[in-house]
Amino acid sequence: MSQGTGAGLFISLEGIDGSGKSTQARLLAEALQASGHEVVLTREPGGSPGAEEIRRLVLEGAPDRWSAETEILLFTAARRDHLERTIQPALAAGKVVICDRFADSTRVYQGVSRGDLRPIVDQLHRLMIGREPDLTLLIDMEPAKGLSRALGRQGNEERFESFGEGLQAQMRRAFLDLAAEFADRFRVIDGGRAIEAVAADVLDLVQSELGAAAARG
Ligand code: ADP
Ligand code: TYD
Repeated sequence: MSQGTGAGLFISLEGIDGSGKSTQARLLAEALQASGHEVVLTREPGGSPGAEEIRRLVLEGAPDRWSAETEILLFTAARRDHLERTIQPALAAGKVVICDRFADSTRVYQGVSRGDLRPIVDQLHRLMIGREPDLTLLIDMEPAKGLSRALGRQGNEERFESFGEGLQAQMRRAFLDLAAEFADRFRVIDGGRAIEAVAADVLDLVQSELGAAAARG
């Protein structure tokens, strides 16, 4: 799929666990809907029935349930299904897609946390996904703060949150490095503020991207 064609807008939110991505994705979807946009709010891993099944496989169970390589395959399989069934049809219909995590999460979590597997992540991405978001909002946050927020939630999806603060700090660094590597589509937002302040920045950035996309036609 070609990028920047004027058909729809693909936005991803990225950041460490507990940084406020889901909260901001929801508020952004509500704000855009209120101003008349057609919005699809979705998430990874998941976002389509098949990918939600894979989500359970990758997020529940013991931390060593999968090898690093198998995990990359599972996340990529989920993403391919999500792209085919949810994201591409929505973009083709001219909608705004807001995705809570996308391929940058695999670059960071699978590419960095268990050795330098970034080349494998990138090869598989080129082969099976071949598409980046038009705009990626990185909600940047101190790991201790993000972790205490994330651990405050209840649930079974704790394989990655049990990483601890050291690894979360490494993940934060890796996200900031990606923001520099893909500076054209990344915007970094300070997530350590009140929800409304973060949401105002998110909306400003998205509105200027929508304006630029409209001007490109
Ligand atoms: P993520 O999707 O990045 O893991 P969430 O949006 O689920 O993060 O937020 C994690 C927790 O922190 C939730 O309980 C949420 O209500 C709370 N939270 C989110 N943003 C903020 C903020 N700016 N200040 C304080 N608490 C927040
Ligand atoms: P998510 O539900 O977004 O968790 P959180 O709300 O805590 O940020 O994502 C679940 C976990 O999946 C999260 O710890 C990061 C991990 N993950 C990967 O390891 N690789 C990936 O490609 C994706 C999309 C997520």
